Amino acid sequence: MEKWSSKLGFILAAVGSAVGIGNIWRFSTVVGQNGGGAYLIPYLIAVFLFALPLMILELMIGRHLQGTVISTFGKVKKQFRFFGWIICAIVFVILSYYLVITGWTLGYLIISLSNSGTTFSEFTSSYQPIVYFILVTIITGFVISFGVKKGIERISTLLMPFSFILLIILAIFCATLSGFGAGIGFFFTPDFSVLSNPLIWSAAFGQAFFSLSVGFGVLLTYGGYLDKGTNIVQSSLIITIADISVAFLAGLIIFPIVFTFGLTPGMGAELAFTTLPLAFSLLDYGMVLAVAFFLLLFFAALTSSIGMLEVSVAAVMEKTSFSRRKTSLILTLLLILVGLPAALSYSSMNLMVLGARVLDLLDETLGTIGLPITALLTTVVFTWFIQKKIFVEELQESKRWATLVLYTAKYVIPVILIVTTISQLVLNVDFAGWSLLRDVRLIRGASSGAIALILLGSMLGILLFIERVLHQYKR
Ligand code: ALA
Repeated sequence: MEKWSSKLGFILAAVGSAVGIGNIWRFSTVVGQNGGGAYLIPYLIAVFLFALPLMILELMIGRHLQGTVISTFGKVKKQFRFFGWIICAIVFVILSYYLVITGWTLGYLIISLSNSGTTFSEFTSSYQPIVYFILVTIITGFVISFGVKKGIERISTLLMPFSFILLIILAIFCATLSGFGAGIGFFFTPDFSVLSNPLIWSAAFGQAFFSLSVGFGVLLTYGGYLDKGTNIVQSSLIITIADISVAFLAGLIIFPIVFTFGLTPGMGAELAFTTLPLAFSLLDYGMVLAVAFFLLLFFAALTSSIGMLEVSVAAVMEKTSFSRRKTSLILTLLLILVGLPAALSYSSMNLMVLGARVLDLLDETLGTIGLPITALLTTVVFTWFIQKKIFVEELQESKRWATLVLYTAKYVIPVILIVTTISQLVLNVDFAGWSLLRDVRLIRGASSGAIALILLGSMLGILLFIERVLHQYKR
């Protein structure tokens, strides 16, 4: 199995997979809309007490079992490999629409460079989102085809430090704007009354898990490329702190800009592609700022997409013994096919299913319900069915962490995931933190769960069929 060339290379790759659209356009608005500074309490608890232990768990199991998302589950119990397939499929579908949004960021980078002032509705009523989606999918597949060291590690080593520098420069510039005080006030002023609202806690968990890319199988796969000498706890702390820092810096950029012009900070696509471009157009050096911002967003989204694609490329390579190049090519083509309906839904074709655009439908069903499922499978299988001594062996440098990770992942995280998911399905609670695109969801409660289960069931059927074909092919 290929290994990372250095600890720094691994950390930058993992930070690249974590830092994404979620940190930049979602975190800051969720903070602002949910009690400002007070929201940081559930968020930081969710990050450090739950998402961080899950990150450590995935990395140590990946390293110990030396496999992909399918074989690591299969090594615990043969039948569990289906759980690996399920994770692969859910992450592949999420990636397919995440790439559509990545395409928008590239599109807006080009729009900013040409200073054409195209609005989001003009952009999405053209064929451009499809072209950019195909382009970024090819770029993602191309990087992956070069492998762990020459592909994932090299691009992350290049893009991550550059993105951090860009963020810091942008934050310093925004500190000079007249709306800085008001922006920071909106971002940080605490309203402690929100802490009794379970919705806030759920939003914080959703945001923490999504933002750190835990439960996606990415860290399980990346853990397989780690050597024995890497201190997993220390590396995970660095990755987590880097991810949080990006989220905070993004807030320090977004709010001063928005408040300088008295705009309302919306969420997701509205904030990134409508509110901010409007503000940029009114600022001195607005074009430079817009280019820097969309470059940042594009790099963040691209490195996260790369992490997600590696999950299935590694798994299919292992299953078929195909070369990395061939596997990347096949999966890139498949990804274009799977993501096309989502891309078409935000294009001149306006493709809708059940009254919702396909991208929204996927985000609010499989994207929202899928991630708690993948995280649940990971925590349950790798704590209930694994010997305790493996934790002590893998986390030798920090024995206290071994106990903490084991017990949190074994008891607490599954309970939180089950409670939040069931409340979402049964009580029809709108959990903003679990979907990527909107703050007010179109599909909620039981319908969201039913659609997610139908999609999941169909995917499982297709996967079982593919596995049978691959099995015969191998014989
Ligand atoms: N962790 C990635 C993000 O925040 C998926 O967008």
